[in-house]
Amino acid sequence: MRRTFSIRLAENDDAAAVTAVLKASYPKLMASAYDPQLLQRALPFITRAHPILLASGTYYVAQAESALVGCGGWSFEKPGTEEKTIGVGHVRHFATSAAWVGLGIARSIYASCQEQARAAGVTRFECYSTLNGELFYAALGFTRMEQIELPMGPDIVLPAIHMSKAI
Ligand SMILES: CC(C)(COP(=O)(O)OP(=O)(O)OC[C@H]1O[C@@H](n2cnc3c(N)ncnc32)[C@H](O)[C@@H]1OP(=O)(O)O)[C@@H](O)C(=O)NCCC(=O)NCCS
Repeated sequence: MRRTFSIRLAENDDAAAVTAVLKASYPKLMASAYDPQLLQRALPFITRAHPILLASGTYYVAQAESALVGCGGWSFEKPGTEEKTIGVGHVRHFATSAAWVGLGIARSIYASCQEQARAAGVTRFECYSTLNGELFYAALGFTRMEQIELPMGPDIVLPAIHMSKAI
């Protein structure tokens, strides 16, 4: 299998392929950091492509020869709300298929996000990192603000790390 990929903006038609990336990523890569039963209940909420992100023009995918292998983007809106703060962008729904980790895919997607966000007037990025994702965001220059609890659905709360970076 050739391990080459290119980064492009996501389109509405990518919904099924992005969902496939999320399903090929989160269950395997989050398993080291979360209680198995909690993860099992949370996965249906986090392994679905987000239609608003797909249509936003600020969400990217990594395209390999025959499939998508990564995704991620940013928004002015704070996740789960319509709240915006001038100069602040939010990093959203990053994933790399487990078979493709460690090849620079997420870093490449992040570079596109940062360049686009800077041009749009963003001076600070925030993210809600999974517990397993903290070292990835730290490698990009993010620092931990606090541990938080993300409500996922009725009676499901996922521990996460609120991080930020001046861009
Ligand atoms: C986090 C994730 C997106 C990283 O994807 P990736 O394509 O493997 O990341 P990259 O290869 O671009 O790595 C970029 C940098 O982060 C570091 N990094 C990535 N994952 C890491 C990990 N688990 N532990 C330590 N460092 C890590 C890499 O070493 C690399 O550093 P360098 O560029 O300075 O050498 C991927 O592991 C994933 O999909 N995890 C499950 C989903 C998830 O938790 N997403 C975060 C959502 S908030």
